[in-house]
Amino acid sequence: MDHVWCNLLHNAIKFTPDGGRIAVSLRRADEGLEVAVRDTGIGVSPSDQERIFERFFKADRSRDRAADGSGLGLALAQEIVALHRGSVSVHSRPRSGSAFRVVLPALPG
Ligand SMILES: Nc1ncnc2c1ncn2[C@@H]1O[C@H](COP(=O)(O)OP(=O)(O)OP(=O)(O)O)[C@@H](O)[C@H]1O
Ligand SMILES: [Mg+2]
Repeated sequence: MDHVWCNLLHNAIKFTPDGGRIAVSLRRADEGLEVAVRDTGIGVSPSDQERIFERFFKADRSRDRAADGSGLGLALAQEIVALHRGSVSVHSRPRSGSAFRVVLPALPG
């Protein structure tokens, strides 16, 4: 899971201009344990939200600033989370910020 946490945190830092805020939270949800990484960064448009988990997909406006990235991070994160029987989702508004939620099934007992 290292890759998952590192990529979500790295993305939040990369796509949030100076002076913004990043928050990480953990809570028990109905479906299991929910880890959320929220930022007040540039956000993702609704049409891009449908594509950011695809391999090599980078939103247009991130191409300059994120020149170091390959667009693979979220695709790999989604595969890793699925192997743990969990899910990852995004809620975002352009220029407002993004929230990425990872839900992992709680251990029995
Ligand atoms: N927190 C975020 N805020 C705004 N856009 C984001 C955020 N996280 C991801 N994105 C968008 O989704 C795209 C895909 O993210 P992903 O992590 O897969 O690739 P990357 O960070 O560009 O490269 P890599 O992770 O391979 O180094 C990003 O290029 C960016 O356009
Ligand atoms: Mg990334």
